[in-house]
Amino acid sequence: MQVCDVGLEKGNILITGAAGFIGAALAERLLQEADSHIIGVDNMNDYYDVNLKEYRLAQLEKYQNFVFLRGDISDKVFVDGVFGQYLPSVVVNLAAQAGVRYSITNPGAYINSNIIGFFNILEACRHSYDGDAHGVEHLVYASSSSVYGSNKKVPYSTEDKVDDPVSLYAATKKSDELLAHAYSKLYNIPSTGLRFFTVYGPAGRPDMAYFGFTDTLRAAGKIKIFNYGNCLRDFTYIDDIVEGVVRVMRHPPERNVGADGLPLPPYTVYNIGNSHPENLLDFVDILQQELVRAGVLPEDYDFDAHKELVPMQPGDVPVTYADTAALERDFGFKPHTPLREGLRKFAQWYKEFYM
Ligand SMILES: NC(=O)c1ccc[n+]([C@@H]2O[C@H](COP(=O)([O-])OP(=O)(O)OC[C@H]3O[C@@H](n4cnc5c(N)ncnc54)[C@H](O)[C@@H]3O)[C@@H](O)[C@H]2O)c1
Repeated sequence: MQVCDVGLEKGNILITGAAGFIGAALAERLLQEADSHIIGVDNMNDYYDVNLKEYRLAQLEKYQNFVFLRGDISDKVFVDGVFGQYLPSVVVNLAAQAGVRYSITNPGAYINSNIIGFFNILEACRHSYDGDAHGVEHLVYASSSSVYGSNKKVPYSTEDKVDDPVSLYAATKKSDELLAHAYSKLYNIPSTGLRFFTVYGPAGRPDMAYFGFTDTLRAAGKIKIFNYGNCLRDFTYIDDIVEGVVRVMRHPPERNVGADGLPLPPYTVYNIGNSHPENLLDFVDILQQELVRAGVLPEDYDFDAHKELVPMQPGDVPVTYADTAALERDFGFKPHTPLREGLRKFAQWYKEFYM
């Protein structure tokens, strides 16, 4: 895939989901490094503790070149207004209803944010070129490793067929890739989808296993380890995700014309994962050690009494494992933070934030 360069040093960069885990970390990294204006959008929904979203926003609001707009990407008037006022050159769409299990009880939230919301973003990108305006140079958007469903072949490659989603969440993420492809082809919008693999770290998402386990153990409850612990997960540290996203943002797929004289879609998709899956039980073991080390739990904590091995949950998959060859080839980068190092930083942050 040929790529060209987009400077991130000036202009306006729009990040949706900016109060979210990945969005806030990305925004902060860009604010530290570049003079560009970061326009952050988030609806601040209460899917998980809103205090955490406010805490992340408070870190960003220290920077003069950060603008926060509270609004919903499923609201077309709002989205068009943001694009009309700020004319972003790069758009990173991270706003979404995340989580596999919640999609069983609240399917509508996924359709609103992940389908209608993303459609509004695509339409706004399309119209950003109206009247020969320079428009959006690169649309980067979050997909997910969940699109691989119960793929038997590992590691998961973006060349694999992913037509068998096992959750509505996965179906919406795959749909986003399809919508982006159509818009790239029709309107020549350079777009890159990123399939993130289980992201973790400080100020992460309380609905994710490592965070929920920590809360439960601290409250002396019992953690449930699904599929009796026979799960392999490719855990990816937040700083690695941010590094990958920043590198990708700079290099949109090139606009080219095909033999038929029509634009070839400037469209691509990458995996961003650690490419080193860990057994869930080993993961829990390291987490326990790091929680004790950080002083979140006492040294004599009886972990065996607070663990329960339970069957697989609907929508879950037994393994996730990223093939990151394309990311390495095109961007010279591969996530590399060891699990213990990442969990240590999470445990230290948790202690400071909650205790
Ligand atoms: N964290 C992971 O492990 C992971 C893995 C794969 C994919 N992803 C994807 O990466 C993206 C970011 O994930 P995250 O972990 O930071 O999640 P997050 O829930 O912390 O962040 C998403 C943010 O988007 C906001 N939001 C949701 N719907 C919105 C809407 N309709 N309009 C405006 N804002 C809205 C939420 O309030 C939230 O702050 C999501 O698209 C998610 O599906 C995350």
